[in-house]
Amino acid sequence: EIYDQPNNIHHVFRGRISEINRSIEFPDKVELLLDPNIESIRIVACGTSFYSGLVSKYIIEQLTDLPVLMDLASEYRYFGTKDDKSLVIGITQSGETADTLAALRKARNSGCKTLVVTNVIGSTATRISDAYILTQSGPEIGVAATKTFTSQILVLFLIALKLGLLKRKIGADDLYNYIQDLKKLPKKVRQVLEQSEDILQIAHQLKNAKSVFFIGRGINYPISLEGALKLKEISYIHAEGFAAGELKHGPFALLTKITPVVAIITNDSTYDKMIANIGEVKARGPQVIAVAEENDTEIEKHADFILRIPAKSNLLSCIPIIVTLQLLAYHVANLNECSIDKPRNLAKSVTVE
Ligand code: G6P
Repeated sequence: EIYDQPNNIHHVFRGRISEINRSIEFPDKVELLLDPNIESIRIVACGTSFYSGLVSKYIIEQLTDLPVLMDLASEYRYFGTKDDKSLVIGITQSGETADTLAALRKARNSGCKTLVVTNVIGSTATRISDAYILTQSGPEIGVAATKTFTSQILVLFLIALKLGLLKRKIGADDLYNYIQDLKKLPKKVRQVLEQSEDILQIAHQLKNAKSVFFIGRGINYPISLEGALKLKEISYIHAEGFAAGELKHGPFALLTKITPVVAIITNDSTYDKMIANIGEVKARGPQVIAVAEENDTEIEKHADFILRIPAKSNLLSCIPIIVTLQLLAYHVANLNECSIDKPRNLAKSVTVE
């Protein structure tokens, strides 16, 4: 399923991007919900779908200026406030997660319009919402979501582009440039998949770790959370993701030389801050594995090991980065002979509370 991703990216775009018209097209029911006058977006989801929502928050806010509120469905269903000015987007691979369904019902009952992003046509989520968009990823068997995570982000990217155009935050030329970035993505992901052997070498560094930290800033912060989730789900190694700027507020107390730190660093406005954070980490003894761009030579002075992602960074770099981290988790789990597709105590779809 990790290897399905280059093809899946094409499936997300199919019938939705018109390069000739320079437009993004969704079914009528979806278009009705994407009203430029909405005041905010609220995303409800669980697990990996929640993290794809958190990644999308960075994308939507940048492309539309709309604030995006994030709610774990299990919390929103009981504590969510009445807010009929937001468009509520539920993200759920299966369309059957009990908490996400309860959150969507609650949103609808409080007068919100609801849009679902799901992989399963005919699922309960598609039936209880005003409209839905399919991720078109094909069945996902592995309990730990991989290909649907990237497809969800790309669907939300298309929603952001559409809203950005409607709100005149982006123009037709910007859209054209974003479409070119999208078209380059399958090749970039393939490039990462071809590096599987290099990633395996790094996996050897992690296989006996008791605890691994993942750090990043901006959009790479939720990617750190998802990278850590993948490692803990399938290899049973304790892993945590942190916003790199938050290390000093607690996590430093746990850092010793036996806690490897995976640091995501891209050539954008966060680069210098990340270099500083890597320095702070190194000063406490851990080995740093950087996930960095292929043309970044500076990072060699700071990190112990480097995993390369294709240059040059843009809003979609998060996709090759997460594929790298999925493969890293896969290799660590494989080295430790874990049951990768069916990890202990976890279910693909949690249909009870
Ligand atoms: C379970 C699965 C996760 C998934 C989560 C939400 O915990 O093991 O992989 O992210 O449910 O599922 P959903 O189908 O709503 O995306």
